[in-house]
Amino acid sequence: MSKRIGILTSGGDCAGLNAVIRAVTLRSVNKYGWHVFGIKDGTLGLMTNPLNVIELKTKDFDGHLMRMGGTLLGSNNKGNPFDKKQDSDKIIKNFNKLGLHALIGIGGDGSMKILQKFTKKGGINFVGIPKTIDNDVINNELSIGYDTAVDVATNALDMLQPTAASHRRAMILEVMGRDAGHIALNAGIAGGADVILIPEIPYSLKSISSHIEKIRSEGRNHALIVVAESVRRENGSRVTVKFVDGQVRLGGIGTYIGDEISKITNAETRVTVLGHVQRGAQPTHRDRLIASAFGVHAVDLIAQEKFNRIVVWQKRRVTDVALDNIAGKSKTLSKCDPLINVAQALGIYVGEIN
Ligand code: F6P
Repeated sequence: MSKRIGILTSGGDCAGLNAVIRAVTLRSVNKYGWHVFGIKDGTLGLMTNPLNVIELKTKDFDGHLMRMGGTLLGSNNKGNPFDKKQDSDKIIKNFNKLGLHALIGIGGDGSMKILQKFTKKGGINFVGIPKTIDNDVINNELSIGYDTAVDVATNALDMLQPTAASHRRAMILEVMGRDAGHIALNAGIAGGADVILIPEIPYSLKSISSHIEKIRSEGRNHALIVVAESVRRENGSRVTVKFVDGQVRLGGIGTYIGDEISKITNAETRVTVLGHVQRGAQPTHRDRLIASAFGVHAVDLIAQEKFNRIVVWQKRRVTDVALDNIAGKSKTLSKCDPLINVAQALGIYVGEIN
């Protein structure tokens, strides 16, 4: 009998999600003759009446969708249905009503933890696909969306450099990445930054200032500084913004660094907070490629009845590992990361390493 499978995107959106939904649909329908159902807005689509679920057809993907940012299924990064028992019971009950053989969940480390809990409790066959611009899913070299985010941040540095040089300024670029410095480090190297600040390595304002003064003394009139959003003030305190809805979010470290450096060096500083353009951009070829490989592999795992697995990218190929080895854990940078050595070798200040 033809199988019915479900798919949902959970957590913050990123580039490449439509490409992975496409790959799952094409593989399921073309190879196995299955029916694919897209659950809308993460698990929220299972809480509405009627359920917010659509059948996905191959013809839905014969146009522009794989090239687009965002997710046609919608997503949700607020709340955890396991905070309220009645919500998680309702989600499981409604999922079972759909008569689905398995669920493919596309999410970051936080979403995987929630989805693992939900599928274990409901006895649901589950396969995960990692996506997050933060690239912090462990045992996985590349998450969907990360490459595009690094590209956007690199492009931003490309655009900041000429204006920095024209006005003899130190430009600070604040990038996303949650508690990991992957976007900052990679874009910083690729975009020719002079200073890269990441949450994993402490820094000193005095050292940054000396570095900028050295650049100046060598005859260059401008500098580029990349700072990851969860870098703290020099005294270790977090920099956050309280929004009108009462939520506290990361943000503001760029302004702090700009102000402090300006006070010490007299340099004119300007701050760019890159924000959600890192998420909504058109996916790079690499993100589309990984998304395609992940989608096909996830469907093949279901065909082989291999569940509670997450597909990952390791050594230039797609493979899979047990979800227990991933969910709720996260991958940050180590001081010994080879790219930290590269940055240092290029004369970039990356914090107080020794
Ligand atoms: O986890 C992805 C991410 O984009 C982080 O880099 C960032 O801190 C956060 O999500 C922003 O979330 P929101 O969309 O709720 O502002």
